[in-house]
Amino acid sequence: MSRLIAILNFKGGTGKTTTTINLGMALAMQEERVLLVDIDPQGALATSFGLRPKHTLTSLLHGATDPERYIVNVRPHLDVLPSDYRLAHADGALRAREVPELTLGRKLKAVQDKYDFILLDCAPTISWLTESALFAAREVFVPVSMEYLALVGARQVIIEVLRARRLYPNRSVHISLVIPTFYNSRLRKTSEAMRMLEKYFPGAVSPPIRTTVRLSEAPGHHKTIFEYDPKGPGAVDYHRLALRVLKDAKR
Ligand SMILES: Nc1ncnc2c1ncn2[C@@H]1O[C@H](COP(=O)(O)OP(=O)(O)OP(=O)(O)O)[C@@H](O)[C@H]1O
Ligand SMILES: [Mg+2]
Repeated sequence: MSRLIAILNFKGGTGKTTTTINLGMALAMQEERVLLVDIDPQGALATSFGLRPKHTLTSLLHGATDPERYIVNVRPHLDVLPSDYRLAHADGALRAREVPELTLGRKLKAVQDKYDFILLDCAPTISWLTESALFAAREVFVPVSMEYLALVGARQVIIEVLRARRLYPNRSVHISLVIPTFYNSRLRKTSEAMRMLEKYFPGAVSPPIRTTVRLSEAPGHHKTIFEYDPKGPGAVDYHRLALRVLKDAKR
């Protein structure tokens, strides 16, 4: 059975997509079988890997039943279920006729046994799609860039997770990891944000991901950080994060 994890923060630009890609790759390099699902109409997963998908998650949500048709293998052990702008239109159409509790989770069930990890890269908005991801997932990872508004976005995630649990009590979705991103130990706001995270999420704060321009350059070359700057801080930090995630699984 795979670990189904939504990567979510309601503040934009906190490193959700960067974490989905590079944590996914780091896990795949440990021989875990990983699927990345793009739940954001920006379609950043496809562009970051240089994919131009004809079929996307939108087709799957609209009624197709075989997810494997839409899944693309991008690296050894690493697959992507891509999205694009069409997903934005799907959000409204599906909201009218489908319940978020069921659709995404039901469709992913067909492939769940093929993977050890399924990471859902969410958009920073409260939408039918984000709700679907929260209902499908068992765990939520919250990347928090080291600033006040990202902490507020994380608090909103807590509220939405509680709401999902209330609406669907037999699901046990919970925030299992908070990931400090854009970490810079020389900045006071970093230590202040870390103090807050340790206080509100004791035991669930991962080792941090440092700020490094290489992480932002890699997608432009259609590479993960492990190909673009394998010895740099981005690769070191995402490797360490993957080990933490694997250790949590063993507990
Ligand atoms: N640790 C880091 N150091 C430097 N730049 C980073 C780091 N993490 C992410 N970035 C860059 O910051 C920007 C925002 O990151 P990313 O797209 O991963 O955030 P996001 O949370 O997915 O954003 P959105 O809310 O729009 O989906 C991107 O340009 C990305 O390359
Ligand atoms: Mg993103």
